[in-house]
Amino acid sequence: MEKKHIVLIGMPGSGKSTLGLSLSKLMGIPFIDTDNFIVGKERKSITAIFSEYGEEAFREMEKHALREILGNEPSVIATGGGLPCFHDNMDLISAKSVSVYLKVNPLKLSEYLKNDKKRPLVKNKSCGELKQYIATLLEDRKCFYERADITIDAYSETPPQLAVNLFNIIINNHYKSIPHEN
Ligand code: S3P
Repeated sequence: MEKKHIVLIGMPGSGKSTLGLSLSKLMGIPFIDTDNFIVGKERKSITAIFSEYGEEAFREMEKHALREILGNEPSVIATGGGLPCFHDNMDLISAKSVSVYLKVNPLKLSEYLKNDKKRPLVKNKSCGELKQYIATLLEDRKCFYERADITIDAYSETPPQLAVNLFNIIINNHYKSIPHEN
């Protein structure tokens, strides 16, 4: 069976990391979260990277992290929410992986993110500001997300159940069996 990377994309809070970890166990390949990969390299939190170096520098770090990860062994990769929408990252993802968009309803997502204190782009926003921010951000980003090979409704089932469904879709439709040569 030909193995490829599986790249999960979608808004912050759509569950990429939780689903990715379950899926990697089912697939028997490593799990990598691009944010954690960058935190490990920089030895700083994402919040500290944003406040000390700014968003543009973070987007450069994401670009390099993606290239490095895709150059290594096949893995399940959970990307930061903005990663597919900067540089030519989505072209690279399409060329090198089976990509999966975790689609969420923006109102449910705002509900979920309203108590989030970790994500620099959403923290310190009132409920109303957050709803508006999420709706606008999704509108700007969806043209990138919608290029994914597979789209799933991220809040429709529990993460372990979604992982099983996704595993079956990938195995049946996106992994080619290579005939054995005798
Ligand atoms: C971001 C999402 C975050 C993280 C950074 C920027 C974004 O990742 O990469 O805070 O631009 O949407 P998650 O999607 O895992 O929250």
